[in-house]
Amino acid sequence: MAEETLDREPTRRGFINWFLGTSAVAFLLSVFYPVGRYLIPPPVAESTAGTVTLPLKAEDVKPNTGQIFKFGNRPAILVRTTAGELRAFSAVCTHLNCTVQYRPDLGHIWCACHNGHFDLNGKNIAGPPPRPLDPYVVNVRGRQIVVSKSA
Ligand code: FES
Repeated sequence: MAEETLDREPTRRGFINWFLGTSAVAFLLSVFYPVGRYLIPPPVAESTAGTVTLPLKAEDVKPNTGQIFKFGNRPAILVRTTAGELRAFSAVCTHLNCTVQYRPDLGHIWCACHNGHFDLNGKNIAGPPPRPLDPYVVNVRGRQIVVSKSA
């Protein structure tokens, strides 16, 4: 009768085994959960935005500058040429999808990932990009800049 009671009492060894077991499971979860989330990214819906009104005033965009903005869920770039014309393109490089940027020193669009160059018509002019950037239509309504997909 006394032995039976002793078997049911928690022992130090039992506690340590339980503690190490749960610690090992927690450690494995903390390692494999982020890896699993990385390998299986959540589904991202394709952008349905056809028009975006930028939070910029037209007069605030200086010549020979470029700015990245969100067009739906993808980056786009707005450029004001040295002649003062506003142009917009997808900012997703056509090589391996890096985000391009405007280089005032070069006067055109540049991709830092592999030194890709695009002119101010979005045409690939140097480096590995295989095709031009997708162009967007820019309209200025009052002081607002409205960018839309080309028809
Ligand atoms: S991703 Fe732009 S040049 Fe390679």
